[in-house]
This record gives sequence, structure tokens and C-alpha cells, in this order.
Amino acid sequence: MVSVTVVGATGYMGSELLRILVKHPKVDKIVPTSRTHAGKPVSTFHRNLLNVFDDVFVDIDLAKIDTDVAFITAPPGEWFAELPQLLDRGVKTITMGGKFRIKDAQIDKEVYGGYENNDLLDERVYGLPELYRKEIKKARFITNPGCYATSVILGMSALKNLKGLDTQKVVVSSISGTSGAGSTLTEKMHHPEVSGNIRPYNTLFHRHTPEIESILNESFQDLKLSFIPIVGDYRRGIVSNITIFADNEPKDLMGTYKKFYQNEPFVRITSEIPEITNVVNSNYCDINSAYDPKKKRIITISALDNLLKGGSGQAVQNMNIMLGLAEKTGLDLVAGHP
Ligand SMILES: NC(=O)c1ccc[n+]([C@@H]2O[C@H](COP(=O)([O-])OP(=O)(O)OC[C@H]3O[C@@H](n4cnc5c(N)ncnc54)[C@H](OP(=O)(O)O)[C@@H]3O)[C@@H](O)[C@H]2O)c1
Repeated sequence: MVSVTVVGATGYMGSELLRILVKHPKVDKIVPTSRTHAGKPVSTFHRNLLNVFDDVFVDIDLAKIDTDVAFITAPPGEWFAELPQLLDRGVKTITMGGKFRIKDAQIDKEVYGGYENNDLLDERVYGLPELYRKEIKKARFITNPGCYATSVILGMSALKNLKGLDTQKVVVSSISGTSGAGSTLTEKMHHPEVSGNIRPYNTLFHRHTPEIESILNESFQDLKLSFIPIVGDYRRGIVSNITIFADNEPKDLMGTYKKFYQNEPFVRITSEIPEITNVVNSNYCDINSAYDPKKKRIITISALDNLLKGGSGQAVQNMNIMLGLAEKTGLDLVAGHP
């Protein structure tokens, strides 16, 4: 059996981790940490867990964690300096934030600032099982991918062997539910500001852009992304609209996707254009792709739940792989309809 610590268990990532882990058949101990709610029962904060998980939040620092696995949802801070010791004590660690996702030390510092450690950057494995399953199996430190990044990288990776793509001008717009911004209240995410609204933001630079480019450039050459994120008036789910110009129609585009993802438990190639309603509350990413011969472009749409395949679901998938468990353990979740 497996013991886990969830650092930052009051947040949205923490909440979803707890919801999955309390039902995970191989997990028998969960340590939920919080600085602000230590001593209070988890179910007084996450009321969906009443009578399901009534343990109390604890305030422990990284130096005291002794579980098999630690999920760290807290933003990068001084605690990052404790990470090497945590790993040396044998705690398999999955971080949810952006720090160390980009392997280039300079870009990592430019985008996320703070703590520098090239050994950690060299060691970290990008936790996208569809691309790095072999490495994840052997890893002790995983950087879990970003939510937008997961949807775009999964949407594009199947095309890596196609010739004639204009990878210099890939255009993506992604719309996300408000939970993507986390649980801290801000004026911009206040209900009257969001309700009935659609808000593009960070249109010239979003920190997921270098993350996506750095991963996709392991498959494509010199890929440049124009990425526009948008917040929509709903709670969870991301739809990414990806345009790639290509002079010639690829042979059997959907067949290419189906073949690339044929053994993937959480990627579904759909005949219809994906919608969030079919993936929310599940760990699936739905993808559809079509070629437009008039405008000479491939239009790929991907949809996933930012809190699950874009976050905590993917993190548990990574834990399962690291521990040699069946990959779908604890993640057999489907969306409701309607
Ligand atoms: N939301 C998403 O859709 C999503 C998807 C993928 C990745 N992510 C990434 O995952 C991370 C967490 O996201 P979230 O949405 O869960 O954020 P969140 O709701 O703001 O939660 C963050 C948690 O971290 C804890 N925390 C904050 N500062 C801390 C510190 N210095 N030391 C220890 N704990 C601290 C807080 O708990 P206490 O204050 O109670 O200690 C809080 O519960 C972020 O880096 C985010 O970018 C988010």
C-alpha cells in the first residue's frame, strides 16, 4: 500500500487530489497539509468530502514528510530548497506548479524566477505519460505539466512525423474555466467580473507558451506558437483550438491521430468536435482534427478538464506509473451527461 502527502490541500489541485486519492485502492494513508487550516477537519473545508475523508489538515514542512509520495501544489517558495533532501529520503515527488517544467535554466528563471538548481532541472521528468512514460517509470521527481500545455501538446504531438507543416506559425487559442486561476480570490476573478464575460488575457505572452514550445520542439523543428488564453464564464474545462498551416492535405489525418494514441488510456480521438461537457470530471483528453483544403490548414480541437488531465488526474496517473501500478487505478472517472 502507498502513503501520500498533499502539500497545499486546501487549493483546487489539492481538493481534486484528495477526491481521487481517498478512493484510490492502493492508497492507505493521506497527509493533507495546510498552513491556514491546520487542525481543522478537511471536510469542514472541502464539504464534498464529509463522511468520506474527515482527517484534519496538518502544517508540516517538507523536512518532515516521510510518505512514499508527495504532491506539492504550493507555489514555488523557500520550500523548493528542501526538495533535494526530500528526494534523497526516497519520497517520490510530483510538483504541480510551473517551476522546472521548462528544462532550459535561463528560461525557467526568466519565467518563474527564484530558486536555481541545475541538478533538479536535469533530473526532473516532464510528467506527460503519452510522451515520457518510460522516463516517468524511473523518475523520482516529476514536474506535472500545465493545463493549457497538456491540451496543446496532446493536440499536436501526433503530427510530429508529417511533412510540410508550417511550424513557424502555429496559432492556438484556448478557453479555460475559472478554476484554472486557483482558489485565491482576486478582483478579476470576482463573480460579477467573470459572470457573463469572456476574457482574453496575457495575449502577448503567457508562461505556458515557452513550456509548450520547449516540449514540442523535441518533436518538431523550431516551432513557434502564437498562443492566446481566454477565461470563460464556467468552472472547469479547457478547449484548445489549434491551427497549423500545411500546403498539402495529410494522408488520413484522423488515422494518424488514432495510431499515435492507440494504446493511450486517457486520449480519445473523436469523430465529433470535442466539447468540455464530455471530459469534465474525467481524466480524458478528447481530440479531433480536420484539414481545410481551401485555407490549407489543419484545425485540431482538444478538450480536457484542467483540474484532472490538466492537473491532479494527470499527477495521479504519473504516481501510478512511478509506482508500477496499473495506470488507470483510481482514475476510472467519466463525465456526466447532461
Ligand atoms: N487550477 C488549475 O487548473 C491548475 C492546473 C494545473 C496546474 N496548476 C498549478 O498547480 C498549482 C496549484 O494550483 P491551485 O489551483 O491548486 O492553486 P490554489 O488553489 O491557490 O492552491 C494552492 C495551495 O498552496 C498552499 N500554499 C500557498 N502558499 C504556500 C506556501 N508558501 N507553502 C505551503 N503551502 C502553500 C495553499 O494552502 P494553505 O494556504 O492552506 O497552506 C493553497 O491551498 C499552481 O502552481 C498552478 O499553476 C493549476
